[in-house]
Amino acid sequence: MTSVERSVVQTFAQPAVDKTVLRVADLTTGFRQDRSTVDVVRGVSFELKAGRTLVLLGESGCGKSVTARSVMRLHPDRAVISGSIALGDQELLTLSPRSMVQLRGQQIALVPQDPAGALSPLRKIGSQLSEVLRVHEVVSGRQARAERGLDLLSRVGISDPRRVAHAYAHELSGGMRQRVAIAIAIACDPAVLIADEPTTALDVTVQAQILDLFEDLQDRLGMATLLVTHDVGVAERMADEIAVMYAGRIVETGPAETVLGSPRHPYTAALLRALPAPGVARGELIPISGQPSAPAERPSGCPFRTRCSFVHDACSTYEPALLHTDVETYAACDLVHPQERVAS
Ligand SMILES: Nc1ncnc2c1ncn2[C@@H]1O[C@H](COP(=O)(O)OP(=O)(O)OP(=O)(O)O)[C@@H](O)[C@H]1O
Ligand SMILES: [Mg+2]
Repeated sequence: MTSVERSVVQTFAQPAVDKTVLRVADLTTGFRQDRSTVDVVRGVSFELKAGRTLVLLGESGCGKSVTARSVMRLHPDRAVISGSIALGDQELLTLSPRSMVQLRGQQIALVPQDPAGALSPLRKIGSQLSEVLRVHEVVSGRQARAERGLDLLSRVGISDPRRVAHAYAHELSGGMRQRVAIAIAIACDPAVLIADEPTTALDVTVQAQILDLFEDLQDRLGMATLLVTHDVGVAERMADEIAVMYAGRIVETGPAETVLGSPRHPYTAALLRALPAPGVARGELIPISGQPSAPAERPSGCPFRTRCSFVHDACSTYEPALLHTDVETYAACDLVHPQERVAS
């Protein structure tokens, strides 16, 4: 093993798999509008474990990105946020903005949907990587940072790291830019990686390569990953656990194979019926009727009732809580827990 390889192994020492790294409890994020606040994320709770991927799945507008950005405390000033976000024993919601800046990138890193927006157009890739390593004091010395930058580029599957280090973002393809954004995200060996639709902007082949890369990096680095997607295919491929979101809440969650294999919530089932899959003819796909309502116009009771094939009288009377369906699974639906009607 060369000295560079040895230092890489040391820096990327793998944490214990399955250890809870981040615990989000009752997260609620709202935006001030005129005199009131409209909550777009409502009472969301989940845990991220080392070496595992939790997929946050749901249609556009259900609150996936606001959840991801709230965890990173990247929400806008007019957002009102409550609950708890604990990274190990640090509570992020009460951390000073300055400490949060230091922690972001170092312990929690974000891979964006649009890497072009995250990379500077004015600086070469190598210089941007070096800057991250300098700011977070990962490696001291210009030469050592340049070498670590090249190593990071190789780690994300870039076969000619020197050329890429000397390039500007606009000289790279979308897939390459996303690899660079991932290299920047893993530069400080974060405990938590948050990826918000990281492959949505890419074509299908490149998308598959980037998903392979995520799997590979997670195996090697043991990060806890929160992957946000609206794509059930991506969820099937990547998730250890799934949290299905609708109208700002988690409506079903549990191990991926259970949630996707035998969904209990009609929304999860509907998402799966709308998915192109091997052996299913296009004509057999059933799109979910209607659109999710805007947060300010959410109907009373269960927010999915206006689109649900199983809607019945009780659905407009209360909003079901997320309750156990089995040891590790939870769903929020009156059909699953009719006995809760009286209690609510
Ligand atoms: N800065 C903001 N101010 C006010 N409302 C916002 C703001 N950001 C998001 N929202 C609203 O919050 C809701 C959830 O948005 P979010 O971006 O989290 O959805 P999403 O699930 O990520 O959707 P997509 O799949 O389209 O990215 C939407 O109704 C959106 O309009
Ligand atoms: Mg989003």
